[in-house]
Amino acid sequence: MFSSKIAGIGMYVPNNVVTNQDLTKYMDTSDEWIQERTGIKERRYAHRTEETTTTMAVEASKIAIERAGITPQDIDFIVFATLSPDYYFPGCGVLVQRAMKMKEIGALDIRNQCSGFVYALSVADQFIKTGMYKNILVIGSEKHSFGLDFSTRGRNVSVIFGDGAGAVVLQPSSDDQSAILSTHLHSDGESAEILAMYNPGTHANHWTKEPLANFDEAPIGQMFMSHNMIDNAQNFPFMDGPSVFKKAVVKFPEVIVEALQANGYQPSDISVLIPHQANLRIAQFVQQKLGLRDDQVFNNIHKYGNTTAASVPIALCEAWEAGKIKKGDLVCLAAFGSGFTWASCLMKW
Ligand code: UT7
Repeated sequence: MFSSKIAGIGMYVPNNVVTNQDLTKYMDTSDEWIQERTGIKERRYAHRTEETTTTMAVEASKIAIERAGITPQDIDFIVFATLSPDYYFPGCGVLVQRAMKMKEIGALDIRNQCSGFVYALSVADQFIKTGMYKNILVIGSEKHSFGLDFSTRGRNVSVIFGDGAGAVVLQPSSDDQSAILSTHLHSDGESAEILAMYNPGTHANHWTKEPLANFDEAPIGQMFMSHNMIDNAQNFPFMDGPSVFKKAVVKFPEVIVEALQANGYQPSDISVLIPHQANLRIAQFVQQKLGLRDDQVFNNIHKYGNTTAASVPIALCEAWEAGKIKKGDLVCLAAFGSGFTWASCLMKW
């Protein structure tokens, strides 16, 4: 069995910086509220028409591929994590394959929201371990700004999210000092509707048991996305923030400890923890619960907000570029989000 290692990493964020103050033009919110409750100062929004989830992913991938010392033609598999794809279908993986003129390789899209990148990394790790592939491109990318409710009604969600992309190239490891040690994946669908975008979808209120108002007036064939849904703003993400928060602060430490225990380590052994950038208060709670020093945890939510599947690879990339991660360091990635799904990955850099 081979181990896998990150051979190259890259990130891309759009140029357009949107401050908390900028958002007050659209909704009743304040810089003070957003900073105090989330730690976010600003986020990036993609260009409305010239940037998509895939184009941002391509920019991050170019850097990751170059840093791995290979070319796009050497990539033999793509795993793409996103909740904001260019098209409902096909997935973004094939769009990256086309845009980067890659060979006719396999391309897999992952739908695990905030845990998407760690899930994607786990899938890629298994393919490297079995010897099936040698250069896997793993991507997390999101263009949230295209589909948020920028009225006061949607402020609890829209102030949090930002756009961006991160990518890594995963290769077989040639030495024990650089390798993914383990990945740990979990889900609990009991709370699927607590953080979700219901529409468009095929559910017809089956799970929520709500009245069928959105659907019964829609002509056959227009139940996927009806005028009613748009009129009632049901095409935006929904989040019961406090419920998500409560679960996150339990599951984050749990899945990190699980990764450490599986490999015979303690929290004090962690060189750098990269938590999914959901809310600075969640990251601080996790840090406190595990007794980690400030220099053991990397956060950059103040600059980018929550970029969902992109947040872990963007933070990992920035931490590495800043010299905070060095060869042989024990790096832990951890994420929690919609589903609920949560996951961790422990690696020697
Ligand atoms: O990455 C995916 C996973 N997601 C998460 O982990 C998110 C977890 N949850 C959170 O981060 C927090 O719950 C939020 C940041 C979303 C919200 O913070 P909170 O401290 O839980 O606030 P809340 O939802 O309990 O709302 C408190 C008050 C409410 O007003 P009232 O009812 O007390 O008068 C909200 O209407 O804050 C109000 N509020 C806002 N005020 C100004 C909600 N959003 C805003 C806003 N600006 N943007």
